[in-house]
Amino acid sequence: MAQATFHFPRGFLWGAATASHQVEGNNKNNQWWAWENEPGRILQGHRSGLACDWWGGRWREDFDRAAEGGHNAHRLSVEWSRIQPAPDRWDENALDRYREMIRGLIERGMTPMVSLHHYSDPLWLTERGGWENEAVVSAFEKFVRHVVEALREYVSLWVTINEPNGYAAQGYVTGSMPPGQNNIRLGTQVMINLLRGHAAAYHAIHQIQPQARVGLAINCTSLLPARPWFPLDTLLSKILTRHLVEFFPNTVRDGVARTLLGKRRVPEAKNTQDFLGVNYYTRRHVAFDLREIKTLFARQFFPAGADLSYTGFLANDPQGMFDTLKWGVQFKIPIIITENGVEDPDDRLRPRYLVQHIHQVWRAVNFNYPIKGFFHWTLVDNFEWERGWTQRFGLWELDPETQARRKRPSADLFAEICKENGISSEMVARYAPEVFQKLFPN
Ligand code: FCB
Repeated sequence: MAQATFHFPRGFLWGAATASHQVEGNNKNNQWWAWENEPGRILQGHRSGLACDWWGGRWREDFDRAAEGGHNAHRLSVEWSRIQPAPDRWDENALDRYREMIRGLIERGMTPMVSLHHYSDPLWLTERGGWENEAVVSAFEKFVRHVVEALREYVSLWVTINEPNGYAAQGYVTGSMPPGQNNIRLGTQVMINLLRGHAAAYHAIHQIQPQARVGLAINCTSLLPARPWFPLDTLLSKILTRHLVEFFPNTVRDGVARTLLGKRRVPEAKNTQDFLGVNYYTRRHVAFDLREIKTLFARQFFPAGADLSYTGFLANDPQGMFDTLKWGVQFKIPIIITENGVEDPDDRLRPRYLVQHIHQVWRAVNFNYPIKGFFHWTLVDNFEWERGWTQRFGLWELDPETQARRKRPSADLFAEICKENGISSEMVARYAPEVFQKLFPN
């Protein structure tokens, strides 16, 4: 068999992505901990508990795993509720801990990418109305200044807010995440405040660190009309894409927010992205359905025959990755894939999911799309929000009771990709022979 390798550009970032609440454990001072303690909020009554026990120090062994796995970068988030446990109190020990962790990445040869907000809010902020209250904009800016001053010597790659679109949609439309609302008006207000919080953070970071690269990570679940010949499906998929996926990137380009409730100028947000962060997992079909009142008459589903993940949460749709990157090119800024991965406890689907998605990234690179890095979600199984521990996204398996880790074959596959800076036909033949013909036809 002839050998072929799909190579990536030199300096391409390869790593895993994580988030504070999902890995640290004992994050008792944020709204998620409170939410987990309300009956019926989390599948099977699961709790984050110790999570991956990073706050207890297990980040060291996990960073060793990442480094041995050839990762040259890692994306993590800092927890607002730890750093600022009360409006008038900063916990310098918590900041020291983050400094130590980030130094730990650098010492192991990994470039840190730090998210300043990843779904979790301090309880004191929630009590003041959270992101519904515009006071959050200056509160977030204050927090960001404090963190960036403390970490500036180690970090220059920042995500201000992870999935502001997911935060608003799940917290205020579907209600599956805190505060569990179904209220488009409030959701729109939250989107505007997230946008303004991002803009304030962007300017603050650049003031402190002119060379910083700052962006948002957007949930890019794309939507296709279920019946392309049916105008209502087409219209609905357009409206949802515009208001969910495209809202933040468009607004931080133009400074004009086009919400479901009308247009609003937000001039301070104009030109506040140095890169586009893409979280791409899957693509869904959307059909107009009068019964779906809560979700704007949109029924979302995977087409028959889709290559579904373990719980049916995602479908393996690598073409969607390519199409998303192609869409991202219009912003004329570098693109970083800030998340991509699949829930798969037995690692049956993950190897092919990985190579097929990275292959599409490679294709995009060959169209000269400015793609600079790829972060796999995630390193070690972690607490998956309202789905608790029912979904396993790790390259490494975790038993949250014993904290034991076990390597999945995908960890080795991803290590080979990172070390080779590419995918070879030989890797695909070994780890995902079922898609060999698709990637290397004849
Ligand atoms: C993304 C979130 C991340 C993780 C993955 C599976 O939407 O940003 O925290 O839960 O989904």
